[in-house]
Amino acid sequence: MSIAVSAPLTSAAAATEVAARGRFLVFEGIDGSGKSTVARTMHERMMAAGRPSVLTAEPTESWIGDMVRRGNKEAASPFTETLLYVADRAEHTAQIDKWLNEGKNVVCDRYVGSTLAYQAVTLRPHLGEPAREWLRSVNAPFTLRPDVTFLLLLDPELAMERLGSRPGREKFEKLDFLRSVDEEYRRLAEKDGYVIIDAARPLEQVAEDVWNIIARM
Ligand SMILES: Nc1ncnc2c1ncn2[C@@H]1O[C@H](COP(=O)(O)OP(=O)(O)OP(=O)(O)O)[C@@H](O)[C@H]1O
Ligand SMILES: [Mg+2]
Repeated sequence: MSIAVSAPLTSAAAATEVAARGRFLVFEGIDGSGKSTVARTMHERMMAAGRPSVLTAEPTESWIGDMVRRGNKEAASPFTETLLYVADRAEHTAQIDKWLNEGKNVVCDRYVGSTLAYQAVTLRPHLGEPAREWLRSVNAPFTLRPDVTFLLLLDPELAMERLGSRPGREKFEKLDFLRSVDEEYRRLAEKDGYVIIDAARPLEQVAEDVWNIIARM
C-alpha cells in the first residue's frame, strides 16, 4: 500500500503576526506518567505569574469528546476509534487557535502525539509500518505545531503502579501495550523534537524542570 507523506504541520509560532499570540504547550506521555498533574501545575503557575493561560485536554469535554470515550468502549474497529480522536482534534484545534490569537497561553494535556503514539500501536496489525505515516497525514491539515511538546518519560510498570492497577492478566496486557506506546513516543521525540522530561522523580523536581523551560520562552 502506498501512503502519501504528510505535508508539514502548520506552525503556531510561524503564524504569529500579532505579537501577543500565546504559546502552545503540550504534555505527552503514557498513562500515569503525570501529564494532568504537571499540566495543571504549569497552568496555575502561569496564572499566578499574571500570564493568561487556558488548561485544556484531549479527548475534550465536548460532545465529540464524549463520542471518543464512547468509541473507546463500543467501537468494533480501531479505525473508528482513531477517526473519532482525529475529529475531536479538528474541533479542538480551531478552539486552541482562537485562544492563542486572544494572547492566551494554551496548556494541552495530550494532543496529536497521543494519536501518533497510541494509534500507531493499535493500527499496526492492520496497516503495518505505514500506520505511522497514515496517522501523520490524516492529522496534518488541521493540526497546529506546538511551541513545545513535553514528553514525560516513566517506566510503564511504575506508571501503572501510580495508577494503582492490580496484578493480573489484564495488567500484563496493559503493560505490554504501554511498553509499545512508550517506544513510539521515544521515536516521535527524536523525529519531532519533543523535550524529554524524566518523570520518575518527585513531582516538585519534574515541575521545576518544566517551569524553567516555559519561563525561558
Ligand atoms: N512525579 C510524580 N511522583 C509521584 N507521583 C506522581 C508524580 N506525578 C504524578 N503523580 C501521581 O501519579 C498519578 C497519575 O498522575 P496523572 O493523573 O497526572 O497522570 P496522567 O499522565 O495524566 O495519566 P492519564 O494518562 O491516565 O490521564 C496521580 O495519582 C498523581 O498524583
Ligand atoms: Mg491525565
